[in-house]
Amino acid sequence: MALFDVYKLQPITPVKASGSWLWDEKGQRYLDFYGGHAVISIGHNHPHWVDALQQQLSRISFYSNSIQNPLQEALAERLAKQSGYPDYSLFLCNSGAEANENALKIASFITGKAGVVAFNKSFHGRTSAAVAATDNPKIVAPVNAGHQVRFLPWNDISALDAGLDESIGAVIIEGIQGVGGIHEPDASFLQELERLCQQRNILLILDEVQSGCGRTGQFFAHQWAGIRPPLITMAKGMGNGFPVGGVLISPDIAAWSGMLGTTFGGNYLACAAALAVLEVLEQENLLENALQQEQVIRQMLADFPGISPVRGRGLMLGFEAPEHLPLKKLLLEQYHIFTGEAGLRTLRLLPSLAIGAEETSYLAEALQQLSKEVVE
Ligand SMILES: Cc1ncc(COP(=O)(O)O)c(C=O)c1O
Repeated sequence: MALFDVYKLQPITPVKASGSWLWDEKGQRYLDFYGGHAVISIGHNHPHWVDALQQQLSRISFYSNSIQNPLQEALAERLAKQSGYPDYSLFLCNSGAEANENALKIASFITGKAGVVAFNKSFHGRTSAAVAATDNPKIVAPVNAGHQVRFLPWNDISALDAGLDESIGAVIIEGIQGVGGIHEPDASFLQELERLCQQRNILLILDEVQSGCGRTGQFFAHQWAGIRPPLITMAKGMGNGFPVGGVLISPDIAAWSGMLGTTFGGNYLACAAALAVLEVLEQENLLENALQQEQVIRQMLADFPGISPVRGRGLMLGFEAPEHLPLKKLLLEQYHIFTGEAGLRTLRLLPSLAIGAEETSYLAEALQQLSKEVVE
């Protein structure tokens, strides 16, 4: 049976990974400045994460959600402490799209409304409501198109008043737009959005699937703006590669029950992986490290000729490369460094939060060589 064609594949077959490095079947080493798309938060195969999963696997790996699972409680407790949302409750699922799908569903149940506001260049996943709230008509099928979604311009406070009318029950926005090219919402924009949503009984959903779990130096990117949304979604970095997602739900909403369900969400292995991630984030001060490494990377890019100003925060950074320089391709083919892209020219850096001098020097060396090609 052939594999269904999903993504354009690089001719690379990694067989081993550790920290920020991968090795292919020929022994070639690659530096990972992409984190498998912001998923690798604490480093590939971190020993504490491997140990937690191995130990859990040898005890019990799955039973249905109709029994008590103390690991789910432990995860919720630890997440409450580290995220700064001690009074919220946690719904566990398996992916980012699923987290957003459930958050949109909760908002609609609570407000009784179907209207959703999303923003230009947004990406929220590929399931039905999540893809309808994604600004890319190419991936929205007719079966998804029935959702009532209105797209508003990014960072435009003047468009909010008319856009948030009485048909709207939910607003969904990324902590920092990732797939759309690393665009950060202004703090004033998020604050006005929060104010209007509260005033008009609209539930604000912060999609922190890519920007959460410490990537920007706060647990969630929106915390830089000082807002407190009632619904927050997370996934990617939460399991460091083990599939797990979650919705943080404000206490005003938690009084409702029986509206969601999942077979695999919150299984023992997912909880063990997510707990190990939170432990390592704290023990190794990785949020602080993300901010320190951001400065190192910004400094290194300041010397690179012809690029746009660097956008983003912490270890979620992006910029446009000079038109004639396919940076992502060159970094991979000539220097064996994985990076991400958005559109044709935006380069995205989404490495593990545990990178240090070894990784940044390796990237700096490659960029220095490539910068000569720009000048020549
Ligand atoms: C902001 C955001 N939301 C949701 C998703 C979807 O996550 P998943 O692929 O785990 O369904 C992504 C994936 O890139 C994302 O970047």
